[in-house]
Amino acid sequence: QFYLNFIKDNRWKYLTDGLKTTLLITFFAVILGIVLGFLVAIVRSSAVKSGIKKPVRMKEKGVYIRKLLGYYLFKLVDFICQLYLTVIRGTPTMIQLLIMYYVIFGSVSIDKRVVAILAFGINSGAYVAEIVRSGIMAIDIGQFEAGRSLGFGYAATMWHIILPQALKNVLPALGNEIIVLLKETSISGYIALTDLTHGGNVIRSQTYSAFMPLLAVALVYLAIVSLLAAGVSALERRLRTNER
Ligand code: ARG
Repeated sequence: QFYLNFIKDNRWKYLTDGLKTTLLITFFAVILGIVLGFLVAIVRSSAVKSGIKKPVRMKEKGVYIRKLLGYYLFKLVDFICQLYLTVIRGTPTMIQLLIMYYVIFGSVSIDKRVVAILAFGINSGAYVAEIVRSGIMAIDIGQFEAGRSLGFGYAATMWHIILPQALKNVLPALGNEIIVLLKETSISGYIALTDLTHGGNVIRSQTYSAFMPLLAVALVYLAIVSLLAAGVSALERRLRTNER
């Protein structure tokens, strides 16, 4: 009976539409998170590692002042990044989502999916930043010095020498972050978005049958996570082939 009505009343649409929303939010949030995360990671690791240091006093006053201003600007950006990491990682994602929806976009009408993408993307960015930073910090400082002594500037050394090595090392952790983010989107129902979880829950409340809808939702998540995990290990294996 449950299955017949499930098909007849088009109730399965809650699951497929929900899945679409879940995938859409996850996809764009991952992109936003990775972009944000890399930027913050580069700033943070420059502050700690490669030593952007306070310039020493020199004869040319103009150059000195310009360098000093640059230094303080960097300090300011670094402080903002630190604040971002502390606040985002120190508060529950659900609260961030609710604040984004009811406070920040409380008085403007905007697609809820955009709100969710922003909330989850900004949230994930903080975790990605720490993952990438740990990858950068693990690269021997000699790699950096080698780049600089080959005539590469700071940015070129970062881009051509440090980041490729760091990225390879943090790939498993990044894959894991994508999986965590996908599952985290299951709280989208709190801003009345019908994602996969919420879709299943709607079916449960309409049919008074909890087992099948929730089991179906769980299996769909499991299937996507398995696919993602398989994709990440395949990528890992490919990147390892040039190691020896
Ligand atoms: N669900 C927990 C929270 O609300 C953990 C989130 C972890 N997120 C992540 N992208 N690694 O804070």
